[in-house]
Amino acid sequence: MSFVKIENLNINLGEFKLEDVNLSVEKGDYVTIIGPTGSGKSILLETALGFYTPETGKIFLEETDITNLNPEKRDISIIYQDYALFPHMTVYENIEYGLKKRLNDKKTIKEEIIQITKMLGIDHLLNRKPETLSGGEMQRASIARGLIIKPKILFMDEPFSALDVKTKEKIRVLVKTAIKKYGTTVLHVTHDFEDIWSLADKVLIMKGGRVYQYGTPEEVFSNPSSEIVADFVGTNILDSKVEEISGNISVLDVSGVKIYSSDIAKVGENVKVSIRPENIIVALKCFDSSAKNVFNGKVTEIKKRGHLVWLTLDIGGVDLKVLITPNSLEALEIEENKNLCVMFKATGVKIIR
Ligand SMILES: Nc1ncnc2c1ncn2[C@@H]1O[C@H](COP(=O)(O)OP(=O)(O)OP(=O)(O)O)[C@@H](O)[C@H]1O
Ligand SMILES: [Mg+2]
Repeated sequence: MSFVKIENLNINLGEFKLEDVNLSVEKGDYVTIIGPTGSGKSILLETALGFYTPETGKIFLEETDITNLNPEKRDISIIYQDYALFPHMTVYENIEYGLKKRLNDKKTIKEEIIQITKMLGIDHLLNRKPETLSGGEMQRASIARGLIIKPKILFMDEPFSALDVKTKEKIRVLVKTAIKKYGTTVLHVTHDFEDIWSLADKVLIMKGGRVYQYGTPEEVFSNPSSEIVADFVGTNILDSKVEEISGNISVLDVSGVKIYSSDIAKVGENVKVSIRPENIIVALKCFDSSAKNVFNGKVTEIKKRGHLVWLTLDIGGVDLKVLITPNSLEALEIEENKNLCVMFKATGVKIIR
């Protein structure tokens, strides 16, 4: 039995519906929820919190049906983007606030507060008022406040989105350590794929009030179950025709370019394939490797996004998106129209079923 189970959940808010949401989360899992804006991510969390009444469906927490339970009785904490600390209280008092309801021994309360704030690197700020803190410090204080009461589940709705890239990186590491230490089960809504790479055990992809895929980041990103998911996760989607099967490799024709895939399809079949941008290697010169797909490519576009760089390369009439680091961009002196060697393995070419 799963720790959290959502069964056939339907919600009708007039203009917006959550349709047939099914989800099961194991204890201690860190689940990230992604999807375009307006896809119902926040509504899903708010429904589990008890703010909306489902038309049909049930929500279970540790096998108890909580669908109609009063929100305060659900034992779920939520952290939002805007910190929501009490402005008139110190950091210590903020964190102590919820804990006082659970513990009445001042000494134990103090020990627990010191332990968690040390873990989050804010133990030197306990006497400060929220207005004197930076965004990253405030967010760590609100995470401490949410975690310390040991909720059954911790919800986070874009908790890091107001922070700069460097602060986010630092906070992710601290939060991950604290959450693992507490063994907390987490549902974390985000738009930042870095949260997935560094935190998630599972990813849930939503669009238009529906769940499109749920699985490990590896599964979802390398094997998107539909074109909608593939499009969203930024993968390369190519239309191809299976030319021949050679051993356990499919030889695909993609607009005249031959691409090898280790997924097997029928000869003559038209299939879509996905290739993850980060599974493609670019180099100044081609070199011997296990990559079966090797092409000369011309850089047609360079886009810097956070601390990643998206390149578009034309490999004989087919455009491929490639993800590299700013360091590689500099080291390879990549600029538009430069020719590079493009390599990827046959196992990185997934046929979408
Ligand atoms: N109380 C409500 N009644 C009716 N519609 C609502 C209500 N609250 C939100 N919506 C609509 O439901 C849709 C989904 O909203 P939701 O806030 O869950 O999106 P989201 O996936 O969290 O988006 P974002 O990434 O922008 O936060 C939106 O179109 C929103 O306008
Ligand atoms: Mg939202």
